[in-house]
Amino acid sequence: MYTQYSVQSAAFLLSVVVIAGQALAHTGAMGIVKERMDGMSILGDHAKSVGDMLKGKASFDLVAVEEAGQAFVTHGEKIPSLFPDTEQSREGTATEALPAIWDNWDEFVALAEKFTNDSQALLTVANNLSNGTQSVDHQSRAVRSIFFKTVKNCSACHERFRLDQD
Ligand code: HEC
Repeated sequence: MYTQYSVQSAAFLLSVVVIAGQALAHTGAMGIVKERMDGMSILGDHAKSVGDMLKGKASFDLVAVEEAGQAFVTHGEKIPSLFPDTEQSREGTATEALPAIWDNWDEFVALAEKFTNDSQALLTVANNLSNGTQSVDHQSRAVRSIFFKTVKNCSACHERFRLDQD
């Protein structure tokens, strides 16, 4: 009983620390590091809003899917230029970017391109649906697989090139 309680409170404390850590992630970030963090945060907001719809936590909104697809494409194209090989970019305060990015630059750029291409496909699906007359049910099914395929690129890149937060 006691043990179970401590394990639960330890898990609770850990989650508080993790959330506080995320809130602090931006503190002190400047210049190119702040710029790319801000861009990534916007991607995170869009991914969450569409993810919630597809999980049934929010009602389906095709316009929000189009906005997410557009934001993904626009930011995806900028990713390589937001990671210049400079001291500020590599060592800037609060950055979670790993040196592996610059050691494996072609691979990093290829992941960014794959993300942009999948995002373009997501945007095309959403744009086509907005010109059609399908039911919301049909729309949400059509968006689902391409959306999840697209956001797999986020975690693929983070696993390899972003400091593990845990
Ligand atoms: C090609 C690689 C790549 C792709 C694709 C990518 N990211 Fe990132 N992301 C990074 C890197 C590297 C960082 C760390 C940047 C830093 O701290 O300087 C990061 C940081 C973040 C952060 C933290 C920002 C902050 O304020 O600290 C969020 C949130 C995020 N990404 C969300 C996403 C989402 C959502 C997607 C997909 C829709 C995505 N990313 C796609 C590489 C990528």
